[in-house]
Amino acid sequence: MNIFEKLGLGALLRIDPELAHGLALRALRTPFAPSPGPVTSGRLRTKVAGLDLMNPIGLAAGFDKNAEVVAPLMKSGFGFIEVGAATPLAQPGNPKPRLFRLTQDNAAINRFGFNNDGIKTIANRLSQKPSGTVPVGLNLGANKDSPNRADDFIKVLELAQPHVDFATINVSSPNTEKLRDLQGPMALAALLDGVCQIRGKTPIFLKIAPDLTDQDIADIAKVATDARIDAIIATNTTLSRDNLKSQHAPEKGGLSGQPLFEASTRVLARLSTLTDIPLIGVGGVASGEQAYAKIKAGASAVQLYTGLVYGGLSLAAQIANDLDTLLARDGFENVNQAVGASRETWL
Ligand code: FNR
Repeated sequence: MNIFEKLGLGALLRIDPELAHGLALRALRTPFAPSPGPVTSGRLRTKVAGLDLMNPIGLAAGFDKNAEVVAPLMKSGFGFIEVGAATPLAQPGNPKPRLFRLTQDNAAINRFGFNNDGIKTIANRLSQKPSGTVPVGLNLGANKDSPNRADDFIKVLELAQPHVDFATINVSSPNTEKLRDLQGPMALAALLDGVCQIRGKTPIFLKIAPDLTDQDIADIAKVATDARIDAIIATNTTLSRDNLKSQHAPEKGGLSGQPLFEASTRVLARLSTLTDIPLIGVGGVASGEQAYAKIKAGASAVQLYTGLVYGGLSLAAQIANDLDTLLARDGFENVNQAVGASRETWL
């Protein structure tokens, strides 16, 4: 972390979290933004769901909801970027405050509720992104007041498709009432069927919640396999509130960061016993060791968001470099070989 990032992060952590996030996005457009370019090596380079990745460390959805800083993010060290969620129509989301830092727990709670500029504006921004070696995907969401949420995913995908390298069906945000019901086998099969009819060549990912029973996970694995989904992202934020110390712990919304690490890794490992679909592990990653743990639990790639709140954007490059060192230490020539290497410890 350079001195500008250190000073900036110290200041941002003292102000309202949503305001801090807005300022961080602005800072990304300045020359002080970390821009090491995608960290890469023979060990880190990999192919996941048809995407060539310079490294398997990705930015999770929700950081750049409106695709406003895609160009600087592509230079920040990540191997792939997911922006959004985008919904068909712009919507304001829930009333503020709706983002809380749980500093003592290295965590966050958010109940944004898909605030975004709407897919027309977001697709227009995505159409202007530079070409490069960092795949960019869009997280698809549904409008709060939509009469047909399944149709919303299709509308967003149709407009985004020419401008993205992958798209994620997000049926796991806890902040849009009843959205998670779309994870049930019947509703999910119908939704995936509709999306897959218009998918063209765009890889389609499915993002799931951590708050699922073993039976739910088995049902999702089957439906996703039948629909030939290209990757499953495990997981979104949790509704659980176990063992938190921070004063904001009772806030409503989805919990992310360190307290989510184990639960999300367990869902990932279980899923990897049930399907050959490539998995992307998300939840509580803030170090090279934790990224490596997700990979050994069954993830072909990893994403993170909350770790950046406490560690700054330079964390992306640091995690990728540390992962490279760990793979070399254990004699892996490529990250592929480590996928699922210690899955049993999580089952
Ligand atoms: C998120 N996340 C999220 N996920 C998603 O699929 N669509 C979204 O719009 C958002 N929005 C969002 C906003 C904020 C403020 C946070 C903290 C998170 C979830 C995110 O992508 C990720 O799955 C979880 O946060 C778990 O990873 P981390 O944060 O523990 O690394």
